[in-house]
Amino acid sequence: MLYQLCYRSRQAQEMDWPTLSSIIGVAQDRNLQDDISGLLLWSEPQFLQVLEGPRDSVSNCFMRIARDARHSRIELLCMRAVASRLFPDWRMRAVRHMNLHAADRAHLLRKYGSLDGSEDGPVAIPEDENLALALLLDFMHLARGLPGGDEVSTPP
Ligand SMILES: Cc1cc2nc3c(=O)[nH]c(=O)nc-3n(C[C@H](O)[C@H](O)[C@H](O)COP(=O)(O)O)c2cc1C
Repeated sequence: MLYQLCYRSRQAQEMDWPTLSSIIGVAQDRNLQDDISGLLLWSEPQFLQVLEGPRDSVSNCFMRIARDARHSRIELLCMRAVASRLFPDWRMRAVRHMNLHAADRAHLLRKYGSLDGSEDGPVAIPEDENLALALLLDFMHLARGLPGGDEVSTPP
């Protein structure tokens, strides 16, 4: 049976794109072994990640991630059995909100609101699990135009 887990958190220290890319580079190898796929959204200073795969793999992976001191305020949004994967092609892909094209960022801000109320601030990560998944799907769609594919994308 396939499971899907979704959480949001906040970075607990200064983070830059090379640091996050190297975290995810290691995670991709591990996720491949554990049959986990998913997507990580970085909307500074927030993270939103979905993990999908066999139940034990997903739950062990989340327990490791939750112990990671590089982020904190971890909130589990959902853990449920699902019929299929939403992100089958990505062993983990990180997408940074600020790396999207300006028009795409504006679209997301109109839809989900901004974290700090500013016009081009980070998009607010919804607390509601269905809205959070909708945001991740929007990101997956918009990030398809960016370089990266199965790899972590580099800033344009
Ligand atoms: C935001 C964030 C997302 C992460 N995503 C994953 C992931 O998808 N898979 C994974 O194995 N580790 C991920 N990690 C790294 C884990 O927290 C952990 O460092 C790694 O799995 C090694 O754990 P270990 O030292 O207990 O073996 C992530 C870390 C952060 C900060």
